[in-house]
Formats: sequence, structure tokens, C-alpha cells
Amino acid sequence: MEDAFLVRPAARGDLPAIDRIYNDAIRETTATWDEEPWPIARREAWWAEHTADPTTPVLVAEVADEVVGFAYLSWYRPKSGYRFTREDTVYIDPPWHGKGLGRALLSRLVAHAEAVELHTLLAFIDATNTASIRLHASLGFDVIGTEREVGYKFGRWLDATAMQLLLPRGRSRPAKVASPGPGY
Ligand SMILES: CC(C)(COP(=O)(O)OP(=O)(O)OC[C@H]1O[C@@H](n2cnc3c(N)ncnc32)[C@H](O)[C@@H]1OP(=O)(O)O)[C@@H](O)C(=O)NCCC(=O)NCCS
Repeated sequence: MEDAFLVRPAARGDLPAIDRIYNDAIRETTATWDEEPWPIARREAWWAEHTADPTTPVLVAEVADEVVGFAYLSWYRPKSGYRFTREDTVYIDPPWHGKGLGRALLSRLVAHAEAVELHTLLAFIDATNTASIRLHASLGFDVIGTEREVGYKFGRWLDATAMQLLLPRGRSRPAKVASPGPGY
């Protein structure tokens, strides 16, 4: 590709760019089923939660010193029995779609998940979001089902495609993951 980009851990100073990218997606797309833009206080709380836990990294992709994408891992559910499972999130600013940034970010998240010996990653993707479904499939995620009409946005019901990646190392040595999760 002709545009060089860098993937790196996020810093607090990246929060306005992350907020802009995500809030634009809320307003314009069904990639997220949030309907109201996040106030900065919510983003700050999210940042505090993610930076406190080495198993929930936040990454950004930048081009020419500008953040144009971000990705992170979140707890799937807070009960401690889910502690080896995370959900991924990836957003790229639309002008930078299709240039390899999403794959670079998600690959780094998978590598991080392996390094901290998580067992599985999940993604719940709007069923019409072909780009995200193919991105996840290209990195080894399998479609494990469809959650029918669990979302409602822009006046219509939405299906979620559930995708899963099992991480072989985490299966045998699930030792490094902190417990309990957020909310406990
Ligand atoms: C989905 C998204 C993260 C993909 O990131 P990206 O940087 O555009 O994708 P990449 O250039 O890294 O492409 C990686 C792979 O994804 C798939 N892909 C990406 N865009 C695609 C498209 N428009 N149609 C079909 N497949 C696509 C392809 O498999 C591609 O591999 P290939 O180029 O070898 O065919 C990005 O389009 C995005 O941010 N979309 C809006 C937000 C969103 O949907 N986030 C995910 C919520 S679950």
C-alpha cells in the first residue's frame, strides 16, 4: 500500500481522535448499535478501565502522526468464569478503509491475547457488515451463529453475526489472566 501507517498502544492524548471516529460511526452507521455519541466523561471512564487491565489493551493506527483508527479488547461478561474470554472492537476512519489498517490492528490484538494467554476472542458484528465479517474470517475467526433481531437502530431490526477465535496456547496454560473482572 502507498500510505505508511503505524500501529501502537494508545495514549490518553488519543482519546479525542478515538471519540471522533467512534461518534461518527454512531451517527452514520450500524457498525455500532450505540445511538447517542459518547460524552467525553464516558470515554475517560472507559480509558481508566482499559488501562488498569493488561488483558484489555487499546491500540491506535496513525498516518502522518494522525490517529485514523483504534482497536481494543474488552471483557465479554464480568463474571469471573468468563475471565479467559475477550471481545474485540475495531474502527477505522472511513477515508482509510481498505488499506490494511483494520487487519494490522486486529492482528496485533490477537497477538496480545495470545501473549497474555487468553483462551478465546469473540466478535458480534452487524450481519450486514461484510467488511468486518471478512476481516475477522481472514484472521481465523469462525462464524458461530446469528443472533436474530437483537438490535434496533435507524428504524429497523438488526441481526448480529457472532464470530469466535480459539487461541491454542490459552487452552493449555490459562495462568496470567487477572481475576475478577470489572464490576466485581
Ligand atoms: C471493518 C473495518 C474495521 C475493516 O478495516 P479495514 O482497514 O477497512 O480493512 P483492511 O483493509 O485491513 O482489510 C482486511 C480484510 O478485511 C476484509 N474487507 C475489508 N474491507 C472490505 C470490504 N469493503 N468488503 C469486503 N471485505 C472487506 C477483506 O477480507 C480484507 O482483506 P483483503 O484486502 O485481503 O481482501 C473497517 O472497514 C471499519 O472500520 N468499518 C467501520 C467500523 C466497523 O464496522 N467496525 C467493526 C465493528 S464489528
